[in-house]
Amino acid sequence: MTQIATNLQIDSARLWGTIHETAKFGGTPKGGVKRLTLGPEDKQVRDWFRAACEAAGCEVHVDALGSMFALRKGRDMSKPPIGLGSHLDTQPTGGKFDGVLGTLAALEVVRTLNDAGIETELPICIANWTNEEGSRFAPAMMASAAYVGDFTTDDILSRKDSAGVTVGEALDSIGYRGDVAVGTQKFTGFVELHIEQGPILEAEGKTIGVVDSGQGVLWYDGQITGFESHAGSTPMTLRRDALATLSEIVLAVERIASGFGPKAVGTIGEAVIASPSRNVIPGEIAFTVDMRSADAEIMDHLDKALTAAVAEIAAHRKVEVKLEKVWHKPPTHFDKALVDAVENAAQALGYSHRRITSGAGHDSCNLNTIMPAAMVFVPCKDGISHNELEDATQADCTAGANVLMHTVLALAGVATK
Ligand code: GLV
Ligand code: MN
Ligand code: MN
Repeated sequence: MTQIATNLQIDSARLWGTIHETAKFGGTPKGGVKRLTLGPEDKQVRDWFRAACEAAGCEVHVDALGSMFALRKGRDMSKPPIGLGSHLDTQPTGGKFDGVLGTLAALEVVRTLNDAGIETELPICIANWTNEEGSRFAPAMMASAAYVGDFTTDDILSRKDSAGVTVGEALDSIGYRGDVAVGTQKFTGFVELHIEQGPILEAEGKTIGVVDSGQGVLWYDGQITGFESHAGSTPMTLRRDALATLSEIVLAVERIASGFGPKAVGTIGEAVIASPSRNVIPGEIAFTVDMRSADAEIMDHLDKALTAAVAEIAAHRKVEVKLEKVWHKPPTHFDKALVDAVENAAQALGYSHRRITSGAGHDSCNLNTIMPAAMVFVPCKDGISHNELEDATQADCTAGANVLMHTVLALAGVATK
C-alpha cells in the first residue's frame, strides 16, 4: 500500500450523515426503514442517490431492471471499472444499515477521492442493485442474478408481487426502467461492504470481517390444501387441517436444519391462510421455506430431507402439499486474490479482523460467479438485522468504509501523474 493510501481516510461524519439523511425515505417510528424495492420510497432514495453521484462527478446510468451504475472515470478507460456498492431497498421491518452502508460508503469513497484529488488508474463504478431483499419479488438478488445470466431479463420483468404487480410495471411506475441492457456495465472486480447481520464479529471484538465464503440458499413456495369445515361440529378425527399440517412442517424444518448443528439454518417466514375465520378449520395455506448452508453436500441433504418430511406429513394428515423449489443458489467461495486484498487493507489500516462466512445472501455472491468479488463486514449490534432495531457504530462503519476504499485503491491503482 502506498503512503498516499495509508494516510487517506474517509470523512466519517459525512458518511454517518448520509446514512441518517437517507433513512428518512421510508423511516419508521421505531427508527427502522421500510423501503420495499421499486415502491415510492425506493424512488425517493434512488433520486437522492442519482443526484449525489452526479454531484460527485459520476456518470449515472440505469439498466433494464433498474440497477443503477455511477461511473467515476479512471486514467485507463480501456478496462472495465472496479465495482463497489450494494443495495438501497429494505425489508418491510428493515434497518438503516443493511445494503445502505455499502452503497453510501461507496459514494463516500468517491467523494473522498475527489477531495484528495486522487485519480485511479482503472475507473471505479458504484452499483445500487435492484431488489436485493427479495421480500416484494422473489428471488432475492434478482437483478444481479439476471446480470450474471442466471435468469433472463424478461423472466425477471414478469415476476409478480403479492398484489399481482410485475417487476416491469413497478419499474415503470417509478420511472426506473433504464435503457441499458442488463449485463452491459462490465466490471474488472467487485467489492461490497455490508454489516455482518450475525453475532460473530461483535462477540469476538473484531472490527472487520474478511468474507471468504457465503451460504447457499434454497427457497421453496408451498401450498397446503386440506378441507374447510365447521370448527364446532367437525370431530377431531375427521379433520384435514391445513394449519395443523403447516405446524408439523415448521417443526420439521427446524429439526432438519438443527440436525446439522451450526452448519445449516431453516426458516418458514411467510404463511397465509386463504380465508381465515376463527370458527372454520383452515383449508388452504400458502407458505415459504428458506434453508441455507455453506456446504453444498449439506444443502443436498436439506433438500432431500425436506421433500421426504413434507410427503410423510401430507400422507398422514390426508392433505395435499405442493412444494416448489423456486431458487437454488449454491454456496459462494469468494475470489482468493480479492479476499487477500481486503485482508491486506484491514491489516495495513491496523483494524482487528478475521475471515468469516456470510450467513446472508448478497449481490456479490452472484457477481462472484462471473468476476472476482469479495466483501467486507463490520459488526452490528447484537447481530440483529432484518429488524428495525438493526444498529452499527459510526466507528465500525467508518472502519469498513476505509477498508473498502483501500481495497478499491489497491485494485484500481492510483494513477501516477
Ligand atoms: C437477503 O437479505 C437474504 O439473505 O435473504
Ligand atoms: Mn443486504
Ligand atoms: Mn437484507
